[in-house]
Amino acid sequence: MLSEYLLAEMSRLGARDALPLHRQLYEALRRAMLDGKLGAGERLPSSRDLAQDLKLSRNTVVAAINQLSVEGYLASRVGSGTYVNDSVPRTTPGRGARQAGGQPATVQAGRLSARGKALSASFCATELEVQPFTPGIADFSAFPLTLWQRLQNKHWRLTYPDMLDYNDSGGYAPLRRAVADYLRVFRSVQLDADQVVITTGTQQSLELCARLLADHGDTVWVEDPAYWGAVKAFMATGLSLHPVPVDEEGINPRSADNAKPPRLVYVTPSHQYPTGAVMSLPRRHQLLATARAHDAWVLEDDYDSEYRFSGPPISCLEGLDTDGRVLYMGTFSKVLYPGLKIGYLVVPRPLVAAFKQAHYDLNRPGQMPVQAALAEFIEMGHFASALRRARLNYGERRQCLLEALRPVLRDTQEGPYISGAEQGLHLCLRLPQSVDDRALAQRIATQHGLTVRPLSAYCLARKDLRGLVIGYGYAPLAEIKRCGPLVAAAVRQALGGAAA
Ligand SMILES: Cc1ncc(COP(=O)(O)O)c(C=O)c1O
Repeated sequence: MLSEYLLAEMSRLGARDALPLHRQLYEALRRAMLDGKLGAGERLPSSRDLAQDLKLSRNTVVAAINQLSVEGYLASRVGSGTYVNDSVPRTTPGRGARQAGGQPATVQAGRLSARGKALSASFCATELEVQPFTPGIADFSAFPLTLWQRLQNKHWRLTYPDMLDYNDSGGYAPLRRAVADYLRVFRSVQLDADQVVITTGTQQSLELCARLLADHGDTVWVEDPAYWGAVKAFMATGLSLHPVPVDEEGINPRSADNAKPPRLVYVTPSHQYPTGAVMSLPRRHQLLATARAHDAWVLEDDYDSEYRFSGPPISCLEGLDTDGRVLYMGTFSKVLYPGLKIGYLVVPRPLVAAFKQAHYDLNRPGQMPVQAALAEFIEMGHFASALRRARLNYGERRQCLLEALRPVLRDTQEGPYISGAEQGLHLCLRLPQSVDDRALAQRIATQHGLTVRPLSAYCLARKDLRGLVIGYGYAPLAEIKRCGPLVAAAVRQALGGAAA
């Protein structure tokens, strides 16, 4: 019987780790799924029945179920209950048995840690990765390769063999200076170069913050819907995710959220990923006040603010921070190319020494030749010219996509309408709740070979959002002209079906 199994697991966990009840139930349910006691597609007893059988409060049961839903183990179907997700990997019977070749039978899922299983079961980037509308991808074919090769060769020649060593703990000093100059002028970040830590991108910046500023099991508030990369970084570092809904003014904590006091708050205030909402000024002040009240750190991911096409320029949240609780991060993936793997993290002064030390100890930073070339690339004005060219190109592509989508827009609250097209490399076509956005995205991929992402796939706890997240950075203008109307036609068809 499921309830007996859960009670036995909970009492074991309670005795061993002194976990709170909702966490014990969460662990016990997760174990039941991974061990196959609860099979893929199986319906969970209702929270009322579980509470009764296990002699727990309904709130405790709901808290455990919500956390498992956020992490992708469970999925709710409207009107019919909560089910075990089909993608939950499980430990097969006979684990450890040897095959003829002498290899363990289940090297994959069965040997993963619980954390590894949760990571592999949740939404990831590779889903439907077919060009040209994949969100968030820049057109790196425009990167000035010859110039870049020349700069790299120069730095190899000048400084070999010193460049083969590990890098300084915060990164190559001239690059830190160049990044600081850029951020001070263009993003109103208050900093000096010493506060910049060069990382291998946003993932590493997030992981460093999670490791240094929070402990295993601490709560991190994440936007709902959320950037999957951040969700995974927090899962991988053992944090407890608490989704906070986003509206047209950005993250909008309700008083109930304060019952889950955060240690970290992760936000994308300049261009919320994926809805594109720009956080309003009152909301920014409110968020900083809430973070102060909880003594939480705010992680500001400013991933695509280089591209602003309409509306007044937006300064970063860090610029409003008066008590040093915002850690600001950015990346070169969107202006240069993602495989460059260089990003930066700006840490408040009192944290600088600890971050540099930990970065050195945990990550052993390297890439000196490429960081030296990038520093010169920025200092000589090549970064600014690449940005100017990219802004022009992406601006045209964005306009072309907007025109292709215009015929399906409706002047009603439920849409279709567009959010987040003022900035960045993607926009969000918001759809009425009656449209199945996952089925629509799948249809667009199979019929036309185009990737658009369903907005609902980015949602953690909420069920009310439907839409398509569409990138316009990658494809040449002619491709957008050709493919934009195909997406519009598929949307029109889905709307017809939904209305029928
Ligand atoms: C919100 C957000 N942050 C960060 C990144 C990626 O940054 P990096 O390539 O430095 O990991 C992305 C990529 O799409 C993103 O959407």
